[in-house]
Amino acid sequence: MSERMEQVLSEARSAIESAASLDGLNAVRIQFLGKKGSIQSLMAEMKNLPREEKPAFGQKVNDLKNEVSRRIEEKQAELAKEAEKARMAGEKIDITLPGDNLEIGTIHPLIMIQQQLEDLFLGMGYTVAEGPEVEQDHYNFELANIPKDHPARDMQDTFYIDPNTLLRTHTTAMQMRELEKANGKLPIKLICPGKVYRRDDDDATHSHQFMQCEGLVVGEHITLADLKGTLEYMASAMFGKGRKVRFRPSYFPFTEPSVEVDVSCPFCNGKGCSVCKHTGWIEILGAGMVHPHVLEMNGFDPKKCSGFAFGVGLERVAMLKYGIDDIRNFYMNDLRFLKTFDRFD
Ligand code: PHE
Repeated sequence: MSERMEQVLSEARSAIESAASLDGLNAVRIQFLGKKGSIQSLMAEMKNLPREEKPAFGQKVNDLKNEVSRRIEEKQAELAKEAEKARMAGEKIDITLPGDNLEIGTIHPLIMIQQQLEDLFLGMGYTVAEGPEVEQDHYNFELANIPKDHPARDMQDTFYIDPNTLLRTHTTAMQMRELEKANGKLPIKLICPGKVYRRDDDDATHSHQFMQCEGLVVGEHITLADLKGTLEYMASAMFGKGRKVRFRPSYFPFTEPSVEVDVSCPFCNGKGCSVCKHTGWIEILGAGMVHPHVLEMNGFDPKKCSGFAFGVGLERVAMLKYGIDDIRNFYMNDLRFLKTFDRFD
């Protein structure tokens, strides 16, 4: 091998040896074996040689070319192996790492109460009605016997959207829709749970948004005794067996008579404790007999039928049932609070 060839071989060897990547090695291949590479230019020198020297020279350059090719191939296999090893190392799974936590939600406590009430009343043959949260004055107030300028409008500070549209202040609005829809057809037996809104300043016991569930029964010979029996059944189902209820006179424009309903304290069984402020009773809802004028306005003859209605605050029930002391907890979306309810049913 000529000196020049020796030199090319030794340059190629060290270039191949020090190639650190497949790309780098490819550059070396082009440098030595490419069309304009050093070995090709050696080939080009052949034309200057005397004829008889040409075959031997050609053979040598070919040997050189094969040698360099072989070395490049070897190096290529080596580099490919290393790259594969590095890739595998990068993909290595550490089976001792902690697993990804799958966050599973819980049912919101207010929805839990709503579902419990729905189950309870469906079991007694009631249906569950729905209605819009953005409501017309007509259903929220007018049909509920609260005409414009009626002082009772002040009882419920209202979010108005325009003079005739508002965020419903009570589920009674749905009661009115259902009465109107029935158009005098008896009997009516339904509950309507849902969100309601009032312009209250939020504190531990008030929220501008809360939930109610209204109950409405209209038929022949429906009396206050039916209301009391129904509420006693509901109170026992929600707060534990043997709850008693008591009625205190109250006022709602859409019921006559109207009552405020207390439940015998489930914490002390009526003996008196800090929850019931030592009275043995806890106020939970408003109720009454559907006002004859409301029946009339909705196409029922109050001489032929009567009805009872009640409206219960779901927050109030949930707070008592689960010992929650701040209504804002229901609306803060604090997972620490919400997650505690995966233990209840
Ligand atoms: N609508 C009343 C309130 O929001 C509750 C109620 C409903 C009272 C039905 C009597 C009958 O306070």
